[in-house]
Amino acid sequence: MTRPLLQSLAEVHVFDDTPGFVDLGVLHVPFDSMVGDGRVEAKLGSSVLRGERTALIADSGSGKSSSVSYVLGPTAEGVAPILVQVQSFERDAAKAEKIADGVILSLERQALEASAVLRGTQVVGTEREVTRRTTRTSKAGGGLSSWLQASTARQIEEQTSTYEPIPLDAKQDMIYQCLVPIYNDDLVPVFIFDDTDRWTVSADRETISGFFGEGLRWLAELEASVVVATHRRYLETEGAGPALLEFLDSRIEIPRVPSPHHLGRILERRIEARNGIGGIEGVLKGWRLEDVVTSEAVDELYVQYESGASLREVLKFAHTALVEAADIGAEMITGSHIRIAVRLWEPKWLDGD
Ligand SMILES: Nc1ncnc2c1ncn2[C@@H]1O[C@H](COP(=O)(O)OP(=O)(O)O)[C@@H](O)[C@H]1O
Ligand SMILES: [Mg+2]
Repeated sequence: MTRPLLQSLAEVHVFDDTPGFVDLGVLHVPFDSMVGDGRVEAKLGSSVLRGERTALIADSGSGKSSSVSYVLGPTAEGVAPILVQVQSFERDAAKAEKIADGVILSLERQALEASAVLRGTQVVGTEREVTRRTTRTSKAGGGLSSWLQASTARQIEEQTSTYEPIPLDAKQDMIYQCLVPIYNDDLVPVFIFDDTDRWTVSADRETISGFFGEGLRWLAELEASVVVATHRRYLETEGAGPALLEFLDSRIEIPRVPSPHHLGRILERRIEARNGIGGIEGVLKGWRLEDVVTSEAVDELYVQYESGASLREVLKFAHTALVEAADIGAEMITGSHIRIAVRLWEPKWLDGD
């Protein structure tokens, strides 16, 4: 590997640990391919098509969003993914009314997004945009709303535009009316609750158990799949565990990355996705991972993973090590760059204790 190339990889943040939702799926290395069975992506894909409600269980930074985006991203067939944001609900997340508001808001947002693209804000599809994004987003309207046809988007916009304070059953009816054109397009609506990890920091057990209980329960009456990213800790939250069991048809545990080799594949995928993009044009021809990161460096990263760092943290270490290596003009990332990166992120080390 050459110095300028390592520098370009650093400049494009090739090991970005927080890609946007759609890019997560593009960079995803299927857990099924690592563990050798169909317990994750294949199972998620088939349960949503069957209209089931699924919990994706893992700690923060372990691949829940990545798996959801891979399975339900813009190229997924037969599904209409609706990404519901719970972040603004805070304590109200236990209330069905609030969740219904969130569902309506996301339907409205995605319809607007799709209409804008379909109306020919095709600028999104210009070559420059395409190359800047890594990904499948290159498709016109290739965002999460690409399943939305013009007429469906219009109907949803009509439904949701009349929105004013109304009781829960009227909200539910409004949601049902939005789903009708989706059914007519032969798609299974999938409500995705992916940003639930935030409660690990702030929320009390009533919020968590309420969300998994009353908050979500009414969704079972709709003909729709539901995918809920579920922090492992929530299962132990009093009240939440039983509520989950009642509401959900299937549980998918995100497995651990089984070996340094597989961690290497995750790094490799990120470089691969950037190949030929953003100044790295052509330079990476015939490259191998060992030309960028030594196997000792990957082993070091895996040691961190084994000792409790999440995948997200491991990628952060990898990025910092890359910047470090590029800064000092190295030709590849070595074990010592990783060790430096880990120490830079380690507050204990900085504090001197
Ligand atoms: N199977 C995977 N293949 C490639 N990257 C992954 C995989 N699983 C996780 N990642 C990466 O690790 C980071 C954390 O994953 P994420 O899905 O956001 O975790 P969670 O949603 O569980 O908090 C992201 O940068 C993501 O791209
Ligand atoms: Mg997530």
